Amino acid sequence: MIDQATVEKIYDSADIVEIVSEFVSLKKRGSNYMGCCPFHNEKTPSFSVSPAKGIYKCFGCGKAGNAVTFVMEHEHLSYVDALKFVAKKYNIEVKERELSPEEQHRNDDRESMMVLLSFAQQYFSDILNKSAEGKSIGLSYFKERGFSLKIINKFQLGYSLDSRSEFSKAVLKEGYKKEFLVRTGLSIEKTDGLIDRFYGRVMFPIHSVSGRVIAFGARTLKADKGTAKYLNSPESDIYVKSKSLYGIFFAKKTLTQLNKCYLVEGYTDVISMHQAGIENVVASSGTSLTVEQIRLIKRFTPNVTVLYDGDAAGIKASLRGIDMLLEEGMNVKSLLLPDGEDPDSFARKYSVEELQSYIDNNEQDFISFKTKLLLNDAKNDPLKKAALITDIVKSISIIPDNITRSVYIKECSRMLDADEGMLFAEVSQLRRKRLTATNIQAEQPEQQTDGFKEYKQPIPDFVTGIYCDEQEKELIYYLLKYGEKALFVNELDQTETVAQYIIDQLKNDKLELQNLQYKQIFDEYEKILNSEVAVSIKHFINNPDEKICELTVNILSEKYSLSELWRKRQGIMEEEEDRLQRAVPKAIAVYKVKILNQAISKFMAQLDEATKVKDAEKIQLLIRQISLLNEHRRKFSQELERTIL
Ligand code: CTP
Ligand code: MN
Repeated sequence: MIDQATVEKIYDSADIVEIVSEFVSLKKRGSNYMGCCPFHNEKTPSFSVSPAKGIYKCFGCGKAGNAVTFVMEHEHLSYVDALKFVAKKYNIEVKERELSPEEQHRNDDRESMMVLLSFAQQYFSDILNKSAEGKSIGLSYFKERGFSLKIINKFQLGYSLDSRSEFSKAVLKEGYKKEFLVRTGLSIEKTDGLIDRFYGRVMFPIHSVSGRVIAFGARTLKADKGTAKYLNSPESDIYVKSKSLYGIFFAKKTLTQLNKCYLVEGYTDVISMHQAGIENVVASSGTSLTVEQIRLIKRFTPNVTVLYDGDAAGIKASLRGIDMLLEEGMNVKSLLLPDGEDPDSFARKYSVEELQSYIDNNEQDFISFKTKLLLNDAKNDPLKKAALITDIVKSISIIPDNITRSVYIKECSRMLDADEGMLFAEVSQLRRKRLTATNIQAEQPEQQTDGFKEYKQPIPDFVTGIYCDEQEKELIYYLLKYGEKALFVNELDQTETVAQYIIDQLKNDKLELQNLQYKQIFDEYEKILNSEVAVSIKHFINNPDEKICELTVNILSEKYSLSELWRKRQGIMEEEEDRLQRAVPKAIAVYKVKILNQAISKFMAQLDEATKVKDAEKIQLLIRQISLLNEHRRKFSQELERTIL
């Protein structure tokens, strides 16, 4: 962990013009500097850097930030690594928190595994390019597939000799430990020694976002039906399959520049598309897409086009992926290739212009995609058409964003000639069902348990959108002013800081701040906290977003006078800092009770309405909801009393 004084020193030394100039050529314009934005494609400069404010802003794409966030965005570094980057530039010594012996050990192990994987990659590449067997079998295979030497080297492809332990022996001879050969899955331990997992296969290294080899995919060249076509490294401390995407390292730059991601199925699809000149492409590598993979893409762009084979399996996989992508709030398009083609074979046939224009002309939003796919056999069959509409409405209902949903409803209504009002009603009914279904699930299992567990049970999801501005502000005040202060020592003897406590308390009840500026501060704070860096108030005071600076300054000064008053009224002369242990839990409890009070009033009003129109079903639902909320309110009120006493 980087300590607070160092973080502040880094911020103070970072000269925004100097740092940006390393990557962008800037020209002075009045008191600012202008250049072409590195985050989107442009020919006329709209990227402005203000040395006085220490920030940059692009008037084209809206990206803005300070010196540190610039390095983060541009180099795709974590917050810690960006700070280190700047520190190095200004010769600031970064003192990190000392790791515990276990942490140190774990880091050492991970590092050893990565070093070994990198050695293995080099070894397999050398075999491919230099050994007789490698050249005649591996290299000629790749060449036959149409891969150029340039692309083979770029993707660091390799070959593993067709003898059972050649590789393991070579590695051990280099002095690497057996333990790491086994833990990376490169070798398998048998009673009579180590066996190479991938012998006799061509090797596709899998890279992390930052470009280190974390695993391999290996393809057999034998036609034998008994062997799996691909073998992949098993999961390990450094390779979590559901979180990695093949090609992400090579794609990341163009993903942001073009603000678009093509999603394909396999290793060879990624490589052939690159060779054809399309680099913003990643593969889920055979497994069905996971939420973590989607979130990884989302770090770079929200726009995804799914590019799957035109066969039945491809269609099925793409339909499955679409709903998950929609649920994560991505903008999804889909492209079916002509039957019998996959992105690999297709990309090899065309020039980059042809390929790009084929994609641009044929990608469809998911409604057109589903509709065209299914409408043909549904055309004159009203039942089938109804089923198709239901299917599409279901997909629309999982989109988190209101506006996007209504755009799609309009489109669906137009394409399928269905009544818009009816579609809206369907969608909102489905959403209601989903909400209550998740609540009822959450509500049942823990109902009869002891007090502690009960308390941990979150406030139900149907409580949303309740505005308690004063309380939200109070929480932000504690977060900003005392976030780093220790609050409790927990059962595991770890100190919990004010920030951790507040964040956990909100997370546990799935509460989101409603005031968007407070929410922004909260989210950023959480992000930094997760990044192993001390949070400096400077981050908020020198924030590129002027509103955040202003708000931070206001909250800190305004609340001070409030708390003075409070102290006078209570006749307590204790320092604010000393009563955090009561003040912070109290602020949380007050916040939750207020939310519940408002929610209960809201539902009571709805109950009145439902009673008037005698909607029995609704009445029942509301009564259950209200009594559940009362339960929660009771718990938090008790908590509140406890903190006051
Ligand atoms: N895959 C896998 N294990 C298998 C088969 C496939 O992990 N036994 C993954 C690989 O990542 C592969 C992707 O699924 O790239 C797509 O499979 P497939 O279309 O069969 O392979 P291709 O990439 O098309 O490979 P090739 O063209 O060499 O047959
Ligand atoms: Mn293929």
